[in-house]
Amino acid sequence: MKAVIFDLDGVLLSTDMLHYAAWKQIADEEGIYFDQKINDRLRGVSRMDSLDIILENADRKYSDEEKIDLAEKKNRLYVDSLTAINPESLYPGTKDMLCKLKKACIRIAVGSSSKNARMILKNAGILGLFDFVSDGNGLCRSKPDPEVFLKAAAGLNADNAECIVVEDAEAGLIAAKRAGMTAYGIGFENPSGVADKYFGKTTDILSAIIEDMILGGVINEQKSDLH
Ligand code: BG6
Ligand code: MG
Repeated sequence: MKAVIFDLDGVLLSTDMLHYAAWKQIADEEGIYFDQKINDRLRGVSRMDSLDIILENADRKYSDEEKIDLAEKKNRLYVDSLTAINPESLYPGTKDMLCKLKKACIRIAVGSSSKNARMILKNAGILGLFDFVSDGNGLCRSKPDPEVFLKAAAGLNADNAECIVVEDAEAGLIAAKRAGMTAYGIGFENPSGVADKYFGKTTDILSAIIEDMILGGVINEQKSDLH
Protein backbone atom coordinates (compact mmCIF):
# COMPACT_ATOMS: atom_id res chain seq x y z
CA MET A 1 0.00 0.00 0.00
CA LYS A 2 1.42 3.35 -0.96
CA ALA A 3 -1.38 5.69 -0.04
CA VAL A 4 -4.09 6.22 2.54
CA ILE A 5 -7.17 8.35 1.79
CA PHE A 6 -9.02 9.58 4.86
CA ASP A 7 -12.63 10.66 4.97
CA LEU A 8 -12.84 13.75 7.21
CA ASP A 9 -16.02 13.93 9.31
CA GLY A 10 -16.17 11.00 11.73
CA VAL A 11 -12.68 9.79 10.82
CA LEU A 12 -10.25 12.59 11.72
CA LEU A 13 -12.67 14.63 13.84
CA SER A 14 -16.40 15.10 14.27
CA THR A 15 -18.38 17.99 12.84
CA ASP A 16 -21.65 16.08 13.23
CA MET A 17 -23.04 18.33 15.96
CA LEU A 18 -22.13 21.50 14.05
CA HIS A 19 -23.96 20.23 10.95
CA TYR A 20 -26.85 19.21 13.19
CA ALA A 21 -27.13 22.60 14.91
CA ALA A 22 -27.16 24.46 11.58
CA TRP A 23 -29.70 22.12 9.92
CA LYS A 24 -31.82 22.13 13.09
CA GLN A 25 -32.08 25.94 12.99
CA ILE A 26 -33.17 25.80 9.33
CA ALA A 27 -35.67 23.00 9.98
CA ASP A 28 -37.16 24.78 13.03
CA GLU A 29 -37.55 28.03 11.09
CA GLU A 30 -39.36 26.12 8.34
CA GLY A 31 -41.47 24.11 10.80
CA ILE A 32 -39.99 20.80 9.60
CA TYR A 33 -39.42 17.91 12.00
CA PHE A 34 -35.70 17.07 12.30
CA ASP A 35 -33.87 14.98 14.91
CA GLN A 36 -30.50 13.29 15.55
CA LYS A 37 -31.67 10.08 13.89
CA ILE A 38 -32.40 11.93 10.64
CA ASN A 39 -29.04 13.72 11.06
CA ASP A 40 -27.33 10.29 11.06
CA ARG A 41 -28.60 9.77 7.52
CA LEU A 42 -26.73 12.90 6.38
CA ARG A 43 -23.29 11.44 7.12
CA GLY A 44 -21.12 11.61 3.98
CA VAL A 45 -24.05 12.99 1.95
CA SER A 46 -23.60 16.25 -0.04
CA ARG A 47 -25.24 19.49 1.14
CA MET A 48 -28.06 19.50 -1.44
CA ASP A 49 -28.75 15.77 -1.00
CA SER A 50 -28.83 16.36 2.79
CA LEU A 51 -31.45 19.07 2.30
CA ASP A 52 -33.57 16.70 0.19
CA ILE A 53 -33.52 14.18 3.06
CA ILE A 54 -34.63 16.90 5.54
CA LEU A 55 -37.40 18.05 3.18
CA GLU A 56 -38.88 14.52 3.17
CA ASN A 57 -40.65 15.69 6.36
CA ALA A 58 -41.90 18.99 4.92
CA ASP A 59 -45.61 19.37 4.26
CA ARG A 60 -45.10 21.26 1.02
CA LYS A 61 -42.82 21.17 -2.04
CA TYR A 62 -39.85 23.56 -2.20
CA SER A 63 -38.75 25.15 -5.47
CA ASP A 64 -35.13 24.85 -6.65
CA GLU A 65 -34.54 28.53 -5.78
CA GLU A 66 -35.89 28.02 -2.25
CA LYS A 67 -33.68 24.97 -1.81
CA ILE A 68 -30.58 26.90 -2.90
CA ASP A 69 -31.46 29.70 -0.44
CA LEU A 70 -31.92 27.23 2.43
CA ALA A 71 -28.67 25.39 1.63
CA GLU A 72 -26.76 28.68 1.48
CA LYS A 73 -28.26 29.83 4.76
CA LYS A 74 -27.37 26.53 6.43
CA ASN A 75 -23.83 26.84 5.11
CA ARG A 76 -23.41 30.37 6.50
CA LEU A 77 -24.49 29.11 9.95
CA TYR A 78 -22.22 26.06 9.65
CA VAL A 79 -19.16 28.03 8.46
CA ASP A 80 -19.61 30.50 11.36
CA SER A 81 -19.55 27.57 13.77
CA LEU A 82 -16.33 26.17 12.22
CA THR A 83 -14.34 28.84 14.09
CA ALA A 84 -14.77 26.47 17.07
CA ILE A 85 -12.57 23.84 15.34
CA ASN A 86 -8.97 23.77 16.56
CA PRO A 87 -6.19 21.14 16.95
CA GLU A 88 -7.91 19.84 20.10
CA SER A 89 -10.96 18.96 17.98
CA LEU A 90 -9.03 16.10 16.33
CA TYR A 91 -9.63 12.60 17.67
CA PRO A 92 -6.79 11.79 20.12
CA GLY A 93 -3.58 10.63 18.42
CA THR A 94 -4.68 11.69 14.92
CA LYS A 95 -1.83 14.09 14.17
CA ASP A 96 0.77 11.65 15.49
CA MET A 97 -0.68 8.85 13.31
CA LEU A 98 -0.54 11.04 10.20
CA CYS A 99 3.09 11.99 10.93
CA LYS A 100 4.04 8.30 11.38
CA LEU A 101 2.44 7.34 8.07
CA LYS A 102 4.41 10.09 6.35
CA LYS A 103 7.60 8.89 8.07
CA ALA A 104 6.92 5.46 6.54
CA CYS A 105 6.77 7.20 3.10
CA ILE A 106 3.04 6.59 2.74
CA ARG A 107 1.25 9.36 0.86
CA ILE A 108 -1.86 10.67 2.54
CA ALA A 109 -4.94 12.42 1.20
CA VAL A 110 -8.36 13.51 2.33
CA GLY A 111 -11.44 12.31 0.41
CA SER A 112 -14.41 14.28 1.76
CA SER A 113 -17.82 15.29 0.39
CA SER A 114 -17.53 18.62 2.22
CA LYS A 115 -16.88 21.84 0.33
CA ASN A 116 -15.52 23.20 3.63
CA ALA A 117 -12.92 20.44 4.08
CA ARG A 118 -9.90 22.71 3.62
CA MET A 119 -11.14 25.21 6.20
CA ILE A 120 -11.75 22.42 8.72
CA LEU A 121 -8.28 20.93 8.12
CA LYS A 122 -6.69 24.38 8.41
CA ASN A 123 -8.46 25.17 11.68
CA ALA A 124 -7.46 21.74 13.02
CA GLY A 125 -3.82 22.50 12.10
CA ILE A 126 -3.26 19.52 9.76
CA LEU A 127 -3.92 20.92 6.26
CA GLY A 128 -0.20 21.08 5.49
CA LEU A 129 0.34 17.38 6.29
CA PHE A 130 -1.73 16.12 3.38
CA ASP A 131 -0.24 15.43 -0.03
CA PHE A 132 -3.64 16.04 -1.64
CA VAL A 133 -7.14 17.15 -0.64
CA SER A 134 -10.08 15.83 -2.68
CA ASP A 135 -13.17 17.67 -1.44
CA GLY A 136 -16.75 18.44 -2.39
CA ASN A 137 -15.79 21.32 -4.69
CA GLY A 138 -16.19 20.30 -8.31
CA LEU A 139 -17.59 16.88 -7.46
CA CYS A 140 -20.41 15.77 -9.75
CA ARG A 141 -21.52 12.74 -7.77
CA SER A 142 -21.83 12.00 -4.02
CA LYS A 143 -20.58 8.84 -2.30
CA PRO A 144 -21.34 5.93 -2.90
CA ASP A 145 -20.05 7.09 -6.27
CA PRO A 146 -16.26 6.62 -6.23
CA GLU A 147 -15.48 10.03 -7.83
CA VAL A 148 -14.04 11.69 -4.69
CA PHE A 149 -11.62 8.79 -4.06
CA LEU A 150 -10.62 8.43 -7.73
CA LYS A 151 -9.66 12.13 -7.70
CA ALA A 152 -7.66 11.59 -4.51
CA ALA A 153 -5.73 8.64 -6.00
CA ALA A 154 -5.02 10.65 -9.17
CA GLY A 155 -3.85 13.60 -7.05
CA LEU A 156 -1.50 11.29 -5.12
CA ASN A 157 -0.28 9.69 -8.35
CA ALA A 158 -1.20 6.28 -6.91
CA ASP A 159 -2.92 3.31 -8.56
CA ASN A 160 -6.39 2.67 -7.14
CA ALA A 161 -5.33 -0.76 -5.93
CA GLU A 162 -2.51 0.88 -3.92
CA CYS A 163 -4.93 2.97 -1.86
CA ILE A 164 -6.58 2.30 1.49
CA VAL A 165 -9.71 4.33 2.17
CA VAL A 166 -10.62 5.02 5.82
CA GLU A 167 -14.35 5.71 6.24
CA ASP A 168 -17.04 5.87 8.92
CA ALA A 169 -20.01 5.79 6.53
CA GLU A 170 -21.43 2.84 4.60
CA ALA A 171 -21.77 4.99 1.45
CA GLY A 172 -18.05 5.80 1.65
CA LEU A 173 -17.05 2.16 2.05
CA ILE A 174 -19.12 1.22 -1.00
CA ALA A 175 -17.48 4.09 -2.92
CA ALA A 176 -14.02 2.79 -1.93
CA LYS A 177 -14.80 -0.75 -3.13
CA ARG A 178 -16.24 0.62 -6.39
CA ALA A 179 -12.97 2.51 -6.88
CA GLY A 180 -11.07 -0.80 -6.58
CA MET A 181 -9.47 0.29 -3.27
CA THR A 182 -9.04 -1.38 0.12
CA ALA A 183 -11.75 -0.18 2.52
CA TYR A 184 -11.21 0.25 6.27
CA GLY A 185 -14.39 0.88 8.28
CA ILE A 186 -14.26 2.93 11.49
CA GLY A 187 -16.55 2.66 14.50
CA PHE A 188 -19.33 0.44 13.15
CA GLU A 189 -21.43 -1.19 15.86
CA ASN A 190 -22.90 -3.60 13.33
CA PRO A 191 -20.41 -4.05 10.50
CA SER A 192 -22.17 -4.93 7.25
CA GLY A 193 -19.12 -6.67 5.78
CA VAL A 194 -18.61 -4.12 2.99
CA ALA A 195 -15.20 -3.12 4.39
CA ASP A 196 -12.09 -5.29 4.11
CA LYS A 197 -11.33 -4.60 7.79
CA TYR A 198 -13.08 -2.82 10.65
CA PHE A 199 -11.47 -0.82 13.47
CA GLY A 200 -12.84 0.75 16.64
CA LYS A 201 -11.08 4.06 16.02
CA THR A 202 -9.00 5.62 13.26
CA THR A 203 -5.62 5.45 15.02
CA ASP A 204 -6.01 1.63 15.22
CA ILE A 205 -5.27 1.44 11.48
CA LEU A 206 -1.62 2.36 12.04
CA SER A 207 -0.51 -1.02 13.41
CA ALA A 208 -2.41 -2.88 10.68
CA ILE A 209 -0.76 -0.83 7.92
CA ILE A 210 2.75 -1.13 9.36
CA GLU A 211 2.33 -4.91 9.80
CA ASP A 212 1.14 -5.26 6.18
CA MET A 213 4.17 -3.27 5.01
CA ILE A 214 6.56 -5.47 7.01
CA LEU A 215 4.87 -8.62 5.65
CA GLY A 216 5.04 -7.24 2.11
CA GLY A 217 8.74 -6.44 2.56
CA VAL A 218 8.07 -2.72 1.92
CA ILE A 219 9.76 -1.77 5.20
CA ASN A 220 11.84 -3.82 7.58
CA GLU A 221 11.40 -4.65 11.25
CA GLN A 222 13.56 -1.69 12.32
CA LYS A 223 10.83 0.65 11.17
CA SER A 224 8.34 -1.17 13.39
CA ASP A 225 9.03 1.60 15.94
CA LEU A 226 6.45 3.43 13.84
CA HIS A 227 3.79 1.50 15.77
C1 BG6 B 1 -19.71 15.45 4.73
C2 BG6 B 1 -20.64 15.37 5.93
O1 BG6 B 1 -18.40 15.36 5.13
O2 BG6 B 1 -19.88 16.70 4.06
C3 BG6 B 1 -22.07 15.61 5.50
O3 BG6 B 1 -20.53 14.08 6.51
C4 BG6 B 1 -22.17 16.95 4.78
O4 BG6 B 1 -22.92 15.58 6.63
C5 BG6 B 1 -21.20 16.95 3.60
O5 BG6 B 1 -23.49 17.19 4.32
C6 BG6 B 1 -21.21 18.28 2.83
O6 BG6 B 1 -20.64 19.28 3.64
P1 BG6 B 1 -20.55 20.81 3.25
O7 BG6 B 1 -19.54 21.37 4.21
O8 BG6 B 1 -20.06 20.89 1.82
O9 BG6 B 1 -21.90 21.38 3.39
MG1 MG C 1 -17.53 10.50 7.44
